[in-house]
Amino acid sequence: MVPPGKPSTAPGARRGDVRADVVVLGGGVTGAACAWRLAQRGSRVVLVDPDETAGASRAAAGMLAPVSELHHGEEDLLALCLRAAGGFAGYAAEVAAASGLGTGYRASGTLAVALDAGDRARLARVREVQQALGLEVEALTGRQCRRAEPFLDPAVCGGSLVRGDHQVDPRRLLAGLLTAAERAGVRRVRARGEVVVRDGRAAGVRLPDGSRDGDLPVDRPADLPADVVVLATGARAQRHVPVRPVKGQVARLRMPAGEHVLQRTVRGLVRDREVYLVPREDGELVVGATTEERGFDERVTAGAVHDLLRDAQALVPAVAELELVEVLARCRPGSPDNLPLIGFGGVPGLVLATGQYRNGVLLSGVTADAVAALVHGGDVVPEVAACDPGRFGSPRAAREEVLVP
Ligand code: GLY
Repeated sequence: MVPPGKPSTAPGARRGDVRADVVVLGGGVTGAACAWRLAQRGSRVVLVDPDETAGASRAAAGMLAPVSELHHGEEDLLALCLRAAGGFAGYAAEVAAASGLGTGYRASGTLAVALDAGDRARLARVREVQQALGLEVEALTGRQCRRAEPFLDPAVCGGSLVRGDHQVDPRRLLAGLLTAAERAGVRRVRARGEVVVRDGRAAGVRLPDGSRDGDLPVDRPADLPADVVVLATGARAQRHVPVRPVKGQVARLRMPAGEHVLQRTVRGLVRDREVYLVPREDGELVVGATTEERGFDERVTAGAVHDLLRDAQALVPAVAELELVEVLARCRPGSPDNLPLIGFGGVPGLVLATGQYRNGVLLSGVTADAVAALVHGGDVVPEVAACDPGRFGSPRAAREEVLVP
């Protein structure tokens, strides 16, 4: 590979000629982590995103919850998520050390609770599946749940404690990753990008609207030639990759200083509906999330916010007193089998890093490690090998000149 160094306009080059080994499209947690890891390996990296606050990372609650988020028949995804969770504390510490910024990582565990007898029976069935797979989960009575979390409603009638499912603050993690990436030499370009395919291989990225960046043309198209393009645009990759947008709406509340209503993540079943509440050290309480299959739609709806807050309040009545700070909708990138797509895809030189669905934050580190290994000719761990995009055949990419992710 080319020796390490910040991608730059070469001496004597025309304005707009920015050279890179790798262009990463998408500046959410996945793209930022990929850019950072690639730069650490010595690649000259450009990270392209018009607005890194516009993607799913912005809405994510940051649950690191392989056990609590387990779904029947998803053992490959479980194995991948367990590997990611096992390494997350080290990954978060590395981001913090490289950036000088905290990530809000908290090893505080998760409590799943049931509001009525039907919910308790459903929770018990989930626990049986978790235990059959050897996962660590403990049955609690309603009283034990309230002892752990005194603000729970007296109607809570049982629960499951998962001591190993933790959390991180995705906004802080992303800020840390972007800073770490820049410190490692990654150049950021704030622009919309399209993958250019030339002679049957990815040849770089085109910026159809130009860029706000100083070295690049403003308001007219520019090209970023590169050997490799990493597509980490989440659900926006849907036109060329088998991912679909799965809308999630979340509300952010604020707990008064020194009066935190929850100590750990609480996931609730409320008359068969699911809700989660993720309390942060700084007093933020994230309430989420809907799961809606309605195409690329990021409108916040009154009904969804009403349902989330009603269910959160049914579990923790004090929620009614908290300040409502923000409501937000973003689209998760769902794949046909809920496993991500990580690996070469469609044409030589194109690496896919999308399809993380409900686990984008948790999987950002293992995805980035895998992408860096692939680009530099190394092996990926078996849990990631199962995510090879080839399992869905060749993406539509191969036949086109310019891909619009
Ligand atoms: N992982 C939680 C969610 O996607 O809503």
